[in-house]
Amino acid sequence: MRRVTVAGERPYDVVIGPGAQAELGLVLAGTPKAAVVHAPPLAALAGAAVETLQTAGVAAEAVVVPDGEAAKTAGVAAAAWEEFGRLGLTRSDAVVGVGGGAVTDLAGFLAATWVRGVRVVHLPTSVLGMVDAAVGGKTGINTGAGKNLVGAFHPPAGVLADTDVLAGLPEAEFRAGMAEVVKCGLIADGTILDLLEADPTGRRDTEELVERAVRVKADAVGQDLFDTGVREFLNYGHTLGHAIERVEDFRWRHGEAVAVGLVFAAELGVQAGRLSRADADRHRDLLTAMGLPTRYAGDWTALQAVMRVDKKARGATLRFVVLDGLGTPGILTDPDPAWLDAAWATVAA
Ligand code: GLY
Repeated sequence: MRRVTVAGERPYDVVIGPGAQAELGLVLAGTPKAAVVHAPPLAALAGAAVETLQTAGVAAEAVVVPDGEAAKTAGVAAAAWEEFGRLGLTRSDAVVGVGGGAVTDLAGFLAATWVRGVRVVHLPTSVLGMVDAAVGGKTGINTGAGKNLVGAFHPPAGVLADTDVLAGLPEAEFRAGMAEVVKCGLIADGTILDLLEADPTGRRDTEELVERAVRVKADAVGQDLFDTGVREFLNYGHTLGHAIERVEDFRWRHGEAVAVGLVFAAELGVQAGRLSRADADRHRDLLTAMGLPTRYAGDWTALQAVMRVDKKARGATLRFVVLDGLGTPGILTDPDPAWLDAAWATVAA
């Protein structure tokens, strides 16, 4: 089993490998009760987690929430709080989140708020969940005003990334999650790029890729939990990526939008004289080999308007993560509009 420790006030381990879920009893040993939050399609996996906990002497019960983003609402949170009350969950108890990023975001938020904070352990079931959502303590729900606008920083007590569950993931989901792995390679770990160039499916080296991507994330959030510094580099490719998701009404997979955003950010780096043409081409070539999109013919005016209200924007000033060479991220503020247009032309072509 591979292990990455995330530093912080309360350090925790991300355990990666086949069968990692079996460590749940160890992570929550001595805990009186646990609520296992999951969506209906993952009832079998959540049932196994409940059994593992019960075998370890933890009184565990499942709490069912809707699937996907539908889980991240104030109404669903309110219903889950009622369930926690019925279960008599106290501060000595724990929440377990079993699912993709939406369910672990909700479970983390429930844990952050219930009795002002109980421990949460995540069992992420997607590549995206393993390398991003479940690690780093960002939790939250959506409101009419926007996605993730209500939430809390609440780092988990442990993350069990059981790579066995990835075998059943639809190929397009797996591939889209790998876009975040590529991002980690581009900003910090060239071996990720070498491994994916050797096997663009990501299936041959999945465990090593997940471990390396988790290390990149752990390093950023260990230094900057509250997202005021280096954590922002994890946003590479996300400014345009988030705008595409918004403009497409979230019908695009996150990783697919990020793939286009990575190519755009690389081209912006070239325009700004910060990244070489060869390194930008490496972005496009790898993502293409992986079957991820690198082009998007959308409404450039609408995308720019959305980018100006991106969470990373300051006022109406555009702000991008760009690379000063592979593995060296930096910030580009208020780029020349001609650079933006030129970068856009390469993805819209
Ligand atoms: N997903 C980016 C972050 O956790 O900061």
